[in-house]
Amino acid sequence: MLLPALLKTQKIYDYIPREAAVCISESLDVPLADLYGVIEFYSMLSSEPRAETSIRVCTTPSCASQGSGDLVADLCQHLGVGVGEATMDGRYIIEEVECLGLCDHAPGVLVGDDMVGEATLDKIFNPEGHPQSEIYGDPLYLMARAGKIDPLSTAEFQKAGGFEGLRVVLSMPPEDVIQMMTDAGLTGRGGAGFPTGLKWSSCAEVDRFPKYLVCNEDESEPGTFKDRALIEGDPFTIIEGMTIAAYAVGANKGFLYIRGEYTCSHEVISQALEIATEEGFLGKDILGSGFDYEIELRSGAGAYICGEETALFESIEGKRGFPRVKPPFPTTHGLFNQPTVINNVETLANVALICRIGPDEYKKLGAEGSTGPRLFSISGDIEKPGIYEITEPITLEQLIYEKAGGVRGGKELRTVLLGGAAGKFVAPDQLDVTLTTPGVRKAGLSLGSGAVVVFDENVDMKFVLHGLGHFFAHESCGKCYPCQLGTQRQAEILDRNLRGQTLEGDIERLEDIIVTMTDTSLCGLGQTAGSAVLSVIEICPEYFGFEEGSYG
Ligand SMILES: Cc1cc2nc3c(=O)[nH]c(=O)nc-3n(C[C@H](O)[C@H](O)[C@H](O)COP(=O)(O)O)c2cc1C
Ligand code: SF4
Repeated sequence: MLLPALLKTQKIYDYIPREAAVCISESLDVPLADLYGVIEFYSMLSSEPRAETSIRVCTTPSCASQGSGDLVADLCQHLGVGVGEATMDGRYIIEEVECLGLCDHAPGVLVGDDMVGEATLDKIFNPEGHPQSEIYGDPLYLMARAGKIDPLSTAEFQKAGGFEGLRVVLSMPPEDVIQMMTDAGLTGRGGAGFPTGLKWSSCAEVDRFPKYLVCNEDESEPGTFKDRALIEGDPFTIIEGMTIAAYAVGANKGFLYIRGEYTCSHEVISQALEIATEEGFLGKDILGSGFDYEIELRSGAGAYICGEETALFESIEGKRGFPRVKPPFPTTHGLFNQPTVINNVETLANVALICRIGPDEYKKLGAEGSTGPRLFSISGDIEKPGIYEITEPITLEQLIYEKAGGVRGGKELRTVLLGGAAGKFVAPDQLDVTLTTPGVRKAGLSLGSGAVVVFDENVDMKFVLHGLGHFFAHESCGKCYPCQLGTQRQAEILDRNLRGQTLEGDIERLEDIIVTMTDTSLCGLGQTAGSAVLSVIEICPEYFGFEEGSYG
């Protein structure tokens, strides 16, 4: 309970006073040094007074391309302080932060607990409500209910097919439920695309209890905001998916880990959990089946790395979010070292869908080797930013020009970042790539978590690359050297590149750093920290910003 205690204290005092730290340390029996280590690790915690209200401005690609840099400058001028300095009256502090999941409402800002989209000075000081994502798709499966029903009404949820899958499953042997996922060909939507049936069966076959079923709602991959829309628009689907998964693998306890910046999602899902428990969809003897399952809600505290599954376990355990060495894998040694399955929010929405319509119907959606509906978050210089549910194989070109209305203002396309910061840049002549797992693989790309960030002809690629370099250098947890040092050196070179001061051999150094990080880093963060940059070097270095003559 260390992280919840620290978050609560931070909320009350706007920092964690020494007296409170000592009190928590004694009552939870956590050494004070470890406690301060945790405070230092998470950007939303502070051991020093900061200010009453933090104004957190996103500076990652989608928001940077829509003017968040200028907004920070305006804010600093308006309040008469620099970034990271509190105003004289102690009311405000301006912070530059990583993606807030407001990419389709860029520039996005978090003012205290209030999310502000299309932020301006006026809106920041007079927040006017929580921005929602536009949802597109024909027809909708995963997003069918979001925005159309009262998200906290189990009656409306059930009228629209909710809990049907759960009712079917609770009368089936657990192994048949796992087989359904395998037959449906479901793969994880959190980024790695691991087969869900295989993951579940390797946990189910371990004869060690308790087991845990964890939902990953950390969603901090820049350019991704689909999970927030699912949680806020259709929270019972996620509860249904988690309960089905728990039943299949034999878990009676689960955790839903939600990123700390998603305060509105936190509110919605905590109410949904209460309602589901009161009405018998969670807790003891679910729907009279004899199966028990409870879900505890846990909040992150501002660390991208905590989306990595083992770092997330460490975070729930009240530690700094350092990824663990794998193997052993979570299915045998996960949360509290017990057998654990962790799935992404969208994966769990697919689970509920499969159990409702059956694997045969499900397989008709998507494509071979990439079955089911898939959500894409589109942002940047695009006419219709939002969440696109795609149920048939289409190309990136079709997604951008036919579905999303093309580049904003009819401008020329410069490039697309596919798969978020951990993904790759795609050149305009590569848009014929099909957005399926085999399709992108053939093109040497990856769908990742479905983030698509569009950049028009006016983009300053040096600035974008500089932002990416800064992002990874900031978010590297520092546990292993290739990533700890590599992300710093990468950021330095991209910084020189931005200032037009590249040194001879910088491009070779950059490639060397990236290859080393990719091959030798401990976790996915370091392994992908250079992939977007490398893709620029490969596609067209001059076009994307490297000075001619500074490479090769
Ligand atoms: C640095 C890093 C960040 C990640 N962030 C997320 C995240 O925010 N949400 C998520 O579902 N998976 C994230 N993942 C992937 C998880 O480790 C894990 O693969 C996923 O939650 C498994 O669920 P799935 O099989 O349903 O995709 C991240 C991985 C890495 C390396
Ligand atoms: S690769 Fe980076 S984020 Fe991952 S463990 Fe190593 S230092 Fe930490």
